[in-house]
Amino acid sequence: MLILTGLFWSSSALSHPYHYINVRMSWPEAQSYCRERFTDLATVYSMDDVNRLVNIVDAGYSGSVWIGLKRGTLKRWGWSNGENTTSQYYNWASGQPNGDEDCVSTYAGVWHDMLCSNKRYFVCYENSGYILIQSTKNWTDAQSYCRQNYTDLPTIHNSEQNNQINKILLSENYIWIGLFLDSWERSDKWSLFFRHWAAGQPSMSSGSGDCVGMSTADSGKWFQHRCDLQHPFICHGGEFNI
Ligand SMILES: *[C@@H]1O[C@H](CO)[C@@H](O)[C@H](O)[C@H]1NC(C)=O
Ligand SMILES: *[C@@H]1O[C@H](CO)[C@@H](O)[C@H](O)[C@H]1NC(C)=O
Ligand SMILES: *[C@@H]1O[C@H](CO)[C@@H](O)[C@H](O)[C@H]1NC(C)=O
Repeated sequence: MLILTGLFWSSSALSHPYHYINVRMSWPEAQSYCRERFTDLATVYSMDDVNRLVNIVDAGYSGSVWIGLKRGTLKRWGWSNGENTTSQYYNWASGQPNGDEDCVSTYAGVWHDMLCSNKRYFVCYENSGYILIQSTKNWTDAQSYCRQNYTDLPTIHNSEQNNQINKILLSENYIWIGLFLDSWERSDKWSLFFRHWAAGQPSMSSGSGDCVGMSTADSGKWFQHRCDLQHPFICHGGEFNI
């Protein structure tokens, strides 16, 4: 499964070349420009893509660059590593999810939604399996920790994986997993959930900006901005009409 996923990511990266457009436009104008000449504003599947994006921006530019993500009208559950919830496996505790809380922890193998700002132990994964990190962090800091030191927070596709994780958990603890409630949608409407937010982003309050820019000054992390601001941008896809 992990190997297949790897192949999918790398082949999608090859078929999605990025193009840096060094002209300042609003997000909707940039989207139209990309759709006319390429496929769409840049979509980002993985940390490899984040690094590719950072590398194609002109070295002298240190501001924001539009990518293909904006606030959507619906909230959906997604996984930190970018997978959508096609497998439809959830193992909620009874009565869960129960509120406006956007991040998910597991307690004795059943899942609870809770405030992302809570500090919890968490699980990371890499090829060799799952690792319990006994240091308390909020969900976003836990995600950064896993991405830097392992691969990501874990995706749980089925009861077998849920049981594997449950085996390494400590009793009496809520522990973060990779599931979160996402209210952002990609320009091309595909439903992959990879996100690379800067600390404190996105803000829970609306009105703080509905379009997403990548900051070249903050190693490619994402910030929300007003959609009418003018920034350079990145398109992806084959070149048409050129
Ligand atoms: C997580 O903690 C960091 C500081 O370590 C803070 O900047 C960030 O806003 C926090 N995120 C949430 C969702 O509370
Ligand atoms: C990666 O692990 C090291 C050692 O535990 C830690 O100091 C560092 O902060 C971790 N990275 C992140 C992004 O949390
Ligand atoms: C999930 O992603 C797959 C491709 O990776 C896509 O075919 C499917 O439609 C997506 N499912 C949802 C619910 O968006």
